[in-house]
Amino acid sequence: MAVDDLTKLFKHELRDLLYAEKTFLKGLKMMAKETSNPAIKQRIADHANETEGHIDTLGRAFEAAGLKTKATKCDAALGLKEEHDSFKEEEDPTPEMLEAFNLGSGLRVEHYEIAGYRSAIVLAKALGFAESAALLQQNLAQEEAMAKFLEAQAPGALDALSAASEEGAPIESSVEPEVASRSRAKSPAGRASTRASARA
Ligand SMILES: [Fe+2]
Ligand SMILES: [Fe+2]
Repeated sequence: MAVDDLTKLFKHELRDLLYAEKTFLKGLKMMAKETSNPAIKQRIADHANETEGHIDTLGRAFEAAGLKTKATKCDAALGLKEEHDSFKEEEDPTPEMLEAFNLGSGLRVEHYEIAGYRSAIVLAKALGFAESAALLQQNLAQEEAMAKFLEAQAPGALDALSAASEEGAPIESSVEPEVASRSRAKSPAGRASTRASARA
């Protein structure tokens, strides 16, 4: 690929990342408000601060490559935000459901950023923009750490969601079907009736 085309592609990646970072900054602030667990809330607020830093660092990565700092509309970033908003509108989630959803939603965002930074770093190195590559690497490390954090929170959020669901459910429907299905599974007759009810 000609150097001009590589530079054009690099510029596009940086502009896309800048727009994505600005979009996700608003999203993180909203996510912090929607989170009740104090440790998770704090980590999200910290990542919002880191994101402000990412915007500055991106500006320096543009400059180090002799490019003008500019954002261009990133449809994927807008789509990820839209996904969050339409989940709230369409599913009318409980706070626990929304918190569990937000961990997955946040993880998608971090992985989008990770892919963007990794691609931009490869291009920066190919073009000989070592300083830009090093700056982008700083942002990438923080995105990777945030992705790891969010992933580690999923089991706790799911526990909170099932505990809240059990509290809200009537006693018969939360206990009996499980006991009944366990006893059916133990006996051949039970397995037959399970198959019969599965066919029904
Ligand atoms: Fe970021
Ligand atoms: Fe991030």
